[in-house]
Amino acid sequence: MSAHHGRVIVVTGAGRGLGRAIALKLASDGARIAIAEIDRELGAEAEQELKTTGAETMFVPTDVSSQESTEAMAAAVLLKWGLIDGLVANAALANSVGGATYDRITVDQWDRIMRVNVRGTWLACRAVAPHMQKRGRGSLVTLSSDTAHWGSPNLLHYVASKGAVEAFTRAMARELGADNVRINCVAPGLLDNDATRGVPPAKREWNIRNRAISREGSPSDIVGLVSFLLSDEASFITGQVIIADGGLVFH
Ligand SMILES: NC(=O)c1ccc[n+]([C@@H]2O[C@H](COP(=O)([O-])OP(=O)(O)OC[C@H]3O[C@@H](n4cnc5c(N)ncnc54)[C@H](O)[C@@H]3O)[C@@H](O)[C@H]2O)c1
Repeated sequence: MSAHHGRVIVVTGAGRGLGRAIALKLASDGARIAIAEIDRELGAEAEQELKTTGAETMFVPTDVSSQESTEAMAAAVLLKWGLIDGLVANAALANSVGGATYDRITVDQWDRIMRVNVRGTWLACRAVAPHMQKRGRGSLVTLSSDTAHWGSPNLLHYVASKGAVEAFTRAMARELGADNVRINCVAPGLLDNDATRGVPPAKREWNIRNRAISREGSPSDIVGLVSFLLSDEASFITGQVIIADGGLVFH
C-alpha cells in the first residue's frame, strides 16, 4: 500500500513551485490533498492538475498570515474529510525577495516577510495541530532554507525568518510529542524554479560550485524527503531540520 493511502494532507502555498510539486508527490503516494493557497488562479490551476492525475483534492483559498483564514481552512477540510493527518507549512514569500543589503531592506518589507513566513507557519500549524493532538497522531513539516545555515547575504529578512521557522519547529516538537504528533523541518538549497528566477547568475553558480553534488537542484529533489517525514517510516523523528541542498551545508 502507498505511504499515504487515504490520508488527508494540507499543503500551504501549493499553487505553484515546490508546494505544488509536494502536493503532486503526496497525491501520487495516495493522499487526499487540501491546497491552502492565497492566489485563487494558481490554487484552481493546481487543483485541476491534481484532479487530472486522479487525486482527491480540494482548493481552500487561504492566507496563512490570517488566523481567521487558517482556522476557516482547517474547518473546511474537516467538514469535507473529517480528519487531517498531515500539514506541509510551505507557503512563504520566497519570490524575488533578495538583492538589498541589511540597511536597505525597508521596515515594511521586513514585516511582510515575517508576517507570512513566521506568523504564517505558526498559524497554519496552530489551525491543524490541536485536531491531531486529539486524535493522538499526525505529522507536520515546515520549510526553511539552507540560507539560514550559511548566512546568505542581501537577504536578511528572509534568512532571519527561516532561522525562526527552524527554532519554532524544535519548540513545537517538544509541545506536540506527548500526543504522538511529530514536526520536522526541511531546508532546501537554492532550487531552479520560478521563485528564484531573479537570483543573480553568479550566486547560482557559486551555490552549484560549492555543493558536494555539484549541480542545479529542483523541487523533485525535495518532495521525497517531505513525503518520508510525513510517513510512518519517520515515526521516531521529530524536531529535526534536514538540509537538502546537494551538500553545500553540513550540520
Ligand atoms: N525555491 C527555492 O530555491 C527555495 C529554497 C529554499 C527554501 N524554499 C522554500 O520553499 C517554499 C516554497 O518556495 P517556492 O520556491 O515554491 O516559492 P513560490 O514563490 O514559487 O511559491 C510560494 C507559494 O506560496 C503562496 N503564498 C504566498 N503567500 C501566501 C499566503 N499568505 N498564504 C498562502 N499562500 C501564500 C504563493 O502564492 C505561491 O503559490 C518556501 O517556504 C521557500 O522559502 C525555496
